[in-house]
Amino acid sequence: MAKLDVEFCGLTFKNPVVVSSIEPTNSPDLLKQCFDAGAAGAVIKTLTDIEDMARLTENSKYCIMNDRGDIIRGKVPRDFVFYSRSGYSSTHYKEWIPHLKECQQYAADRGAHLIGSAGAKDIDGWRDICRTIEDCGLPMVELNFGCPHPAMMPGVHGGSMIGQEPDVAAEVVRAIREVVDIPLMVKLTPDQSRLLEVAQRAREAGAMAVTATNRYTGFAIDIETGMPRIGGPAGIGGTWTKPLSLRWVHRITEELDMPISGSNGIFDHRDVVEFIMAGARTVQVGSVLMIKGIKWLPDIINGLDRFMDEHGYPDIESMRAIASRAAAKDYSTQFMRARTHVEIDHDKCENPTCTVCIQMCFYEALSQEDGHVKVHPENCIGCELCYDVCPFKAMSMQPTTAEQFAQGYFQPPESVFETNKFTTRRNNPDSIGKPHLKKKAKGETRSPALQTISEE
Ligand SMILES: Cc1cc2nc3c(=O)[nH]c(=O)nc-3n(C[C@H](O)[C@H](O)[C@H](O)COP(=O)(O)O)c2cc1C
Ligand code: SF4
Ligand code: SF4
Repeated sequence: MAKLDVEFCGLTFKNPVVVSSIEPTNSPDLLKQCFDAGAAGAVIKTLTDIEDMARLTENSKYCIMNDRGDIIRGKVPRDFVFYSRSGYSSTHYKEWIPHLKECQQYAADRGAHLIGSAGAKDIDGWRDICRTIEDCGLPMVELNFGCPHPAMMPGVHGGSMIGQEPDVAAEVVRAIREVVDIPLMVKLTPDQSRLLEVAQRAREAGAMAVTATNRYTGFAIDIETGMPRIGGPAGIGGTWTKPLSLRWVHRITEELDMPISGSNGIFDHRDVVEFIMAGARTVQVGSVLMIKGIKWLPDIINGLDRFMDEHGYPDIESMRAIASRAAAKDYSTQFMRARTHVEIDHDKCENPTCTVCIQMCFYEALSQEDGHVKVHPENCIGCELCYDVCPFKAMSMQPTTAEQFAQGYFQPPESVFETNKFTTRRNNPDSIGKPHLKKKAKGETRSPALQTISEE
């Protein structure tokens, strides 16, 4: 059995799976259910002194859509879109005090950690909430600089508004650091371009780790009524955000080497693996638990265990950041990779009339001749698209040898702009769409614009 335990901010987590700050951590009873289900940690729903942010939660709106933007009724698939609006904990942080102590003990008895979360009105509030969390025995606190909703709340300055301002973020962290000893973790917003700077400044001010990331702000529309879903802009997430989140996990790993808790886009253990391979030490799961229930946690944890055994990873560290380390540092590294071209196995091309590959090649490297797909290697730039899309895996990418270059296989010219040619012109009639194909079948000519391109 693989070793799932992981060190994070001086604490040992029995596995990397932590429940994020969200509705399933909004009461002592729910927190206990998370620990009973095997979570190594749970971040309490953000504790606050901002009345409006507590009231917002009491007026929450949630809707789950499919990739078309329709409301999903019944079973929710993996590619869900979670569009919702809710605030911070609806219970004042001072009322949480006895429960924090009790839940912390409950977690500790199960080898897990209750993590605090704070989002306050002003510096005094930030300090007081974090001190309260520490006094109740919680071993670390997450600062919510990522919530998308305060930006829509008149008079509230918090969440992503802080997370978009490196100076302000640093000031808040520094002020809290002065009064609190437990590790501080900053939850970042992806709604910005200066995320690395915010993380770096937060670290200089005393933060030990980051959560990357909270959700985006979106705007969803019901096209039947022309009305915005749930009344207007809201937080948006789902597994579709995962590659966007991973991009930040990757960059923080590479450029800051800061401990990361990965969040935003996890459905099952496969997503957990991706976050770890990008560099996260722990991960946070949130909205999927609102959809599948807290009972989904053991599936994620057991799935991770199974995956590691099947793939020969003895522990989390052996898997962590492997993809980030293998990634190109910049695009020039990719240019220097050995050149390839596509070859086709005609026996595997079971349906040469499907022409998916031809339709998607923008380099004139594939055509249909005598009922077969013909490769024109002199045009193939080795982009791999046809190789990926062929449903029968009939394409293979082959290294292009010096002899093949000599035979005229595609080799980029040294001075691309001197050649006066359009390498990506779309003059393949089979890739232009059905109306045009119909014309062609009837012997009609192509549109003048297309004729011009193909006759160049
Ligand atoms: C309904 C809802 C409420 C949330 N409330 C909070 C919150 O109080 N504090 C916080 O830091 N993040 C909050 N989040 C963000 C989640 O903790 C999490 O970072 C985000 O949903 C992305 O993770 P996921 O893809 O696993 O859902 C909330 C998210 C949702 C969907
Ligand atoms: S690899 Fe790219 S350029 Fe080459 S044939 Fe396939 S789609 Fe065209
Ligand atoms: S996509 Fe595959 S099956 Fe379809 S025509 Fe191309 S090679 Fe043949």
